[in-house]
Amino acid sequence: MRTSVGIVGAGPAGLMLARLLRLAGIDCVVLECRDRAYVERRQRAGVLEQGTADALRAAGAGERLDREGLPHDGIELRFGRRRHRVDFPDLTGGRRVTVYAQTEVCKDLIALAETDGPPVLFEAEVLAVEDVDTDAPRIRFRRDGREEVLECAYVAGCDGFHGVCRAAVPAAVSRVHERSYPYAWLGVLADVPPSHDELVYARHDRGFALLSMRSPTVSRLYLQVPEGTKAEEWTDEEIWDELALRLETADDWRLERGPVTQKSVTPMRSYVHEPMRYGRLFLAGDAAHIVPPTGAKGLNLAVGDVVVLARALEHERRTGSTELLDSYSATCLRRVWQAERFSHDMTALLHRDPRAGSFDDRLQLARLDRITTGRSAAADLAEGYTGLPLG
Ligand code: APR
Ligand code: PHB
Repeated sequence: MRTSVGIVGAGPAGLMLARLLRLAGIDCVVLECRDRAYVERRQRAGVLEQGTADALRAAGAGERLDREGLPHDGIELRFGRRRHRVDFPDLTGGRRVTVYAQTEVCKDLIALAETDGPPVLFEAEVLAVEDVDTDAPRIRFRRDGREEVLECAYVAGCDGFHGVCRAAVPAAVSRVHERSYPYAWLGVLADVPPSHDELVYARHDRGFALLSMRSPTVSRLYLQVPEGTKAEEWTDEEIWDELALRLETADDWRLERGPVTQKSVTPMRSYVHEPMRYGRLFLAGDAAHIVPPTGAKGLNLAVGDVVVLARALEHERRTGSTELLDSYSATCLRRVWQAERFSHDMTALLHRDPRAGSFDDRLQLARLDRITTGRSAAADLAEGYTGLPLG
C-alpha cells in the first residue's frame, strides 16, 4: 500500500490531520490499532479553546459542535468556602471556550472521513515505523492477523503517549523533559445535571476537586487522589461525600448527586519530547507531549500541532519548499511550552502536595488571592485558559 502521508493513530490529532489533508487534496491513510467503538467511547477531555473550535469549524467539523457545544464565558475558583468567577471575555478581549467532549470531536471527524475519505483503518496495529531518515519511510502494521507495509513520503506520529512512533527517533537525537506529580485524578461521569453552569475548580485542604460537564444532563467530576489509587478503592457514595466536602461553599450552593456511569483514574504528568520532527517523521499531540489535565490543554495542543503540520505539508505540495516542515518542531514547541507552563501552574495552584508544608499552603492562598482580587493575575489565567492563537 502507498500514500503521501501515513498517519498513525485515530485520536483527535490523527483524525483532524486526516481531515485537513483531505481538504488540501493530499492523500493519506490513518492506521488505528483499536476498533471504532473504542475510539468513540474513550472518555477524555472536554474543553475546546476558541482557536480549536474555530479550526474544527473551518475544517467543516463544526455543525454539531455549534448545535450541542456549550459556550463558556468563565470558570469559578473556589477556596476557603468562597466562590470567585474569572470572566474570560472581559479579561481577554472577547475570548471564550466551548465544552464539547473529545468523544464527540472524534465521532464527528470519523463520520466526515467515512463520507469524504481518507481511509481510516481500524484494528490496524502499527508495529514499527522505519527508514524515516530516508526519502522512503515505511510503516509496518498488522491487520486481520497479517503483516502489511504502508509506504509513504511522510509519517505523522499521532499515536499518543504509549504509541510506537516516538521510538523511531534515535536516542542520540531525543531530549525528554518531564515532571511527575505525587497525585492523580479520580474521575466520574454521572447522569445528573451539572450543579453549576460553569466549570468549578476547587482548592481545598483535603485536595483538589473539579466540577465539569458533558451536556446539560451529564456531569463530569474529579477528585485529587494519591498517585497509584485504583478507581475500585472508592465507592460511589464515598466519591460524592468527598466532592461535597471539597466543593462546599459558605452560601446555599448544593452538589446534586446522581447515578455514576463510569469511574477511572487519570495519572498526572508533564512531558515534552524534543524535537517533534526527525527526518520525515512528525510527532503530534500526546505522542510528543503530555500536560496534567488541570488546564484542559491536551486536546487543544493536539489540534494546534496538526494545524501547523497540515499547513506545512500543503506549502510543500504547492511550492516545493520544505521551509514550514523544517520549522514545524520549533513552531509547535513554542506553543507547547506555553501550555506546559500554564498547566503546571494551574496544577500547583490548586492541588494539595503531600510534601508541602504550611509555607507552601500560604503561598498557594496568596496566589489565589492575587488572581481573585487583581486584574493582571486574573487576565494571565484567562489568557492561558482560553489559549494562544493557533499559529
Ligand atoms: N498503532 C496504531 N494506533 C495506535 C498505536 C499503534 N501502535 N498506538 C496507539 N495508537 C492509537 C491509540 O489507540 C489512539 O487512538 O493512537 C491514538 C492516539 O490518540 P490519543 O491518545 O487520543 O492522542 P492524540 O490524538 O494526540 O490526542 C491527545 O488525547 O490523551 C488525550 O487529553 C489528551 O485530549 C488529549 C488528546
Ligand atoms: C473535563 O471535563 O473532562 C475536564 C474539564 C476541565 C479540565 C479537565 C478535564 O481542566
